[in-house]
Amino acid sequence: MSQQIVISGVGVWHPQDSISNQELVESYNAYCDKFNAQHSSEIESGEVQAMPHSSAEFIEKASGIKQRYIYKKDGALDVDRMKPLIEPRADEVLSHQAEFAIASAKIAMEKANKKADDIDAVIVSCAYTQRSYPAIAIEVQGALGIKGFGFDMLVACSAATFGMHRAFEMLSAGSAKCVLVINPELVSPQVNYKDRDSHFIFGDVSTATVLERAETATSEHVYDVLSTKAVTQFSNNIRSNFGYLTRAEDVDPYGADKLFHQAGRKVFKEVCPMAAEHISEHLSRHDIEPANVKRWWLHQANINMNTLIAKRLLGREASREEAPIVLDEFANTASAGSVIAFGKYHEDLVSGDVGILCSFGAGYSIGSLVLKKR
Ligand SMILES: CC(C)(COP(=O)(O)OP(=O)(O)OC[C@H]1O[C@@H](n2cnc3c(N)ncnc32)[C@H](O)[C@@H]1OP(=O)(O)O)[C@@H](O)C(=O)NCCC(=O)NCCS
Repeated sequence: MSQQIVISGVGVWHPQDSISNQELVESYNAYCDKFNAQHSSEIESGEVQAMPHSSAEFIEKASGIKQRYIYKKDGALDVDRMKPLIEPRADEVLSHQAEFAIASAKIAMEKANKKADDIDAVIVSCAYTQRSYPAIAIEVQGALGIKGFGFDMLVACSAATFGMHRAFEMLSAGSAKCVLVINPELVSPQVNYKDRDSHFIFGDVSTATVLERAETATSEHVYDVLSTKAVTQFSNNIRSNFGYLTRAEDVDPYGADKLFHQAGRKVFKEVCPMAAEHISEHLSRHDIEPANVKRWWLHQANINMNTLIAKRLLGREASREEAPIVLDEFANTASAGSVIAFGKYHEDLVSGDVGILCSFGAGYSIGSLVLKKR
């Protein structure tokens, strides 16, 4: 019996609402002007620093991002609020994040030709979960009518790849026969829309993948997972301190350090070489030269990072066809970026074509899968 593990379906779902760079910058700049007017005397005396304007041109040039999807646009651009307005739901009602997850899960299940009965494990793996327990995965499992087990895991930007790694291992070990890995990246509530350095970075999206043994796969586009590779190295350069201890620490649970913040330049400098080396080592495990990789489904944080990494590996710039970019439309979607790229750009490959799916970011964490089309 073959032990080959495959990806047999992928789903990408995004909310309807979107915010262009221009809209975002207009709201941020109006917030700045209001803040500066309110603090004019402290700014004049040097006690408070004036807030500088953001710029749509800077955002596109520095990151490649043109817009982002957002679950609830209401409130996020309101200068008196600067955060999305999400109505609370009773315990009996499907939670926001589970609803988000299910939307992409259904697409992935349809693509993989799977019904709830075919699946026996659900992993919800993403940058944030909306509560500690019961696990979002178990709520999704219940809502979809899947038997078996589910659990949540958090690995920030590498949550999706690390989740697929766990699915690969569970399938290899025989503890599951078909695993649904979902990445409901509902990140907008953690974005500091008052922070010029990071207000533009993230967008909301949910992705899902179905992994199973090759012999049970019946879908049109099946990818053998040749192997997985993961590495982590502790860094404080990307951080969110929001957590349950804040209640006992008598600090503002929503202060700036509790939201996403980063030293972006340092991240850029440190993560690019790490990611390139990681990918090179992973490919060499299979004697695959970078030049023979048909597609690079790379993490989507910054277009310049992807250009640099592909250049290090290929010795030349990768074409958009080789290394697709989705962050212009979606922005950084935490762990989902490389899965969106895979979801949108995998059907045209032919049998035998090899691609690499790779995430990199907070932790630091890097995760990859070498994939070969059946
Ligand atoms: C965040 C990022 C896009 C910023 O781009 P950058 O080129 O490094 O920009 P810097 O932070 O060095 O800032 C450059 C200048 O632009 C200014 N600037 C920063 N944000 C700005 C904004 N929104 N509008 C206008 N100017 C801005 C800075 O103040 C700085 O000005 P200075 O040169 O006068 O000091 C980039 O560092 C990045 O993407 N890093 C990797 C992040 C990443 O992958 N994170 C993973 C998260 S999951």
